[in-house]
Amino acid sequence: MQSELRKKLLDAFTNSDGEYLSGQLLGDLLGISRAAVWKHIEELRKEGFELEAVRRKGYRILKTTKKVTADEIRLGLKTKFIGQNIHYEDSVDSTQKVALQLGLNGAKEGTIVIAEEQVSGRGRMERPWHSPKYTGVWMSLIIRPNIPIQNAPQLTLLTAVAVVQAIEEVTTLSPQIKWPNDILLNGKKITGILTELQAEADCIKSIIIGIGINVNQKLQDYPQELQEIATSLAIEAKKEINRAELIRAVFTKFEKLYDLYLQSGFQPIKLLWESYAISIGKTITARTLTKEIKGKALGITEDGVLKLEDEYGEIHYIYSADIDLENK
Ligand code: BTN
Repeated sequence: MQSELRKKLLDAFTNSDGEYLSGQLLGDLLGISRAAVWKHIEELRKEGFELEAVRRKGYRILKTTKKVTADEIRLGLKTKFIGQNIHYEDSVDSTQKVALQLGLNGAKEGTIVIAEEQVSGRGRMERPWHSPKYTGVWMSLIIRPNIPIQNAPQLTLLTAVAVVQAIEEVTTLSPQIKWPNDILLNGKKITGILTELQAEADCIKSIIIGIGINVNQKLQDYPQELQEIATSLAIEAKKEINRAELIRAVFTKFEKLYDLYLQSGFQPIKLLWESYAISIGKTITARTLTKEIKGKALGITEDGVLKLEDEYGEIHYIYSADIDLENK
């Protein structure tokens, strides 16, 4: 977990717009000695930051690290609570597992668990999630909304909108959403979202939203069976993407949408979600655990349930399924 002092130091650099900050000024801001400032600067250097120190001027950051450590994410982050507590790991089983534990231990709303690599990344329906080192964004967000338990799936849809908007902002790409929570580019998967609940009686204790974004993988980094169905932002944009910038954008978009949701309910989020949805108005096949239903996707309900009209005009409400699009 990041120390408060480190957060303040990175905030100061964020707000300095590349100007030098003197050791004295930083010391005053942080309430520590100049020698202690220097120690923090050295720690940032060890983490991979390139910091310039000029006599009588002070310090400034020239280059950030390639890793997405908590400090790297923090530099430039302007959210109120999403990502203000970052739990960074080099390698974990699954960030979901770590976040579930932190959630039980009372972690604050907005806490993020992020890892460079997951050795047992999990997808929906107990599928594995390929999470190789230093290439993607593998993270889990803890939130504690005061909403009825049956509304929890709305947060998955909200997250999908936040990720699409963040990708649009950081790249020139325009991803689409496939119900319920796959984000696609050119028909291939770029992001998956996995939402898990911690509840007691009918009360939500926390929601853990796992987000996996394929960012800088090359095609050959994927196992054969994934090459047909998955892609990365770098493959699609034909250039490497700054992962920390993308993560900050996801936090910012999520926080904005979450505030809107808590104030105005699901309706504005639903409209945004539908505007990005690939399947609405199209003929699709929904494969549930027990049956296959083919029909036209009409939209989503207030609960985020997919509404499907079959060829006989009968309406089906789909709660959980895999979707195949007729014409990709
Ligand atoms: C899916 O589309 O099946 C959902 C994939 C979710 C993957 C993310 S990566 C971060 C978090 N940790 C996990 O183990 N899974 C989620």
